[in-house]
Amino acid sequence: MEVLVLPTPADVARRAAEVVIDGLGAARRPEPVLGLATGSSPLGLYAELAAAVRAGRLDLTRARGFALDEYVGLPVGHPQSYREVLLREVCGPLGLAPERLHVPDGSGRDEDELVAGAAAYDRLIADAGGVDVQILGIGANGHLGFNEPGSALSSRTRVKRLSDRTRHDNARFFAGIDDVPTHCVTQGLGTVLDARRLVLVASGPGKSEAVAAALEGPLSASCPASVLQWHADATAVLDETAAARLRNRDYYDASAAGL
Ligand code: F6R
Repeated sequence: MEVLVLPTPADVARRAAEVVIDGLGAARRPEPVLGLATGSSPLGLYAELAAAVRAGRLDLTRARGFALDEYVGLPVGHPQSYREVLLREVCGPLGLAPERLHVPDGSGRDEDELVAGAAAYDRLIADAGGVDVQILGIGANGHLGFNEPGSALSSRTRVKRLSDRTRHDNARFFAGIDDVPTHCVTQGLGTVLDARRLVLVASGPGKSEAVAAALEGPLSASCPASVLQWHADATAVLDETAAARLRNRDYYDASAAGL
């Protein structure tokens, strides 16, 4: 695991974009697959990737994008559904064709339909050859995707209940807490671990506790993001405030300085 600590969120976005571009290049696949997180954390990173596309350093016209998660029960076209967010923030700016964006299906009418849709999503990822680079944010409670504390470390894409903490944290995207869905379909932690490279971005003091638990605490379902420790090619790109509670900071900085 590599931990890169940078002064500001803008530096985080720039550096994380380089790690993503490098990972897509290293995959050497004609149709590379990018795993997409939503929320605030990756927005700067997406803007940097869009700048790289405009500068001709990145071409995603033949890439595929797979979202980490989707809310259950939002009407099709709802501006806060993750499909709509990714169409706005990623497809247009990064030149990824909308038909090459895949998002878990949260529109199932009952549990059977949702469960079938979740299983189909894992098959779709496998059929695309797996995810080359997975972009990740972290919840203040340590969630990864919408794998809330207690999620099985080997879980696959499935329906999950959102925790009260997550619903309150995400209420800022809705008119109020009552409008935040109670359930989601999320890639499982095992699904996330199948990606060839993981790139976690986190900024702000509100993430410092979760970051410390994820990177330096025990590998535990109580902190789902701790699965990063299990992955052979995981990079956490953090700003100073998100990194504030890390104990091994000197070592990370020395390692980042290279040989
Ligand atoms: C969303 C997702 C979540 C977010 C997390 C942090 O696709 O996977 O794990 O990354 O909730 O959200 P922000 O970035 O809004 O703080």
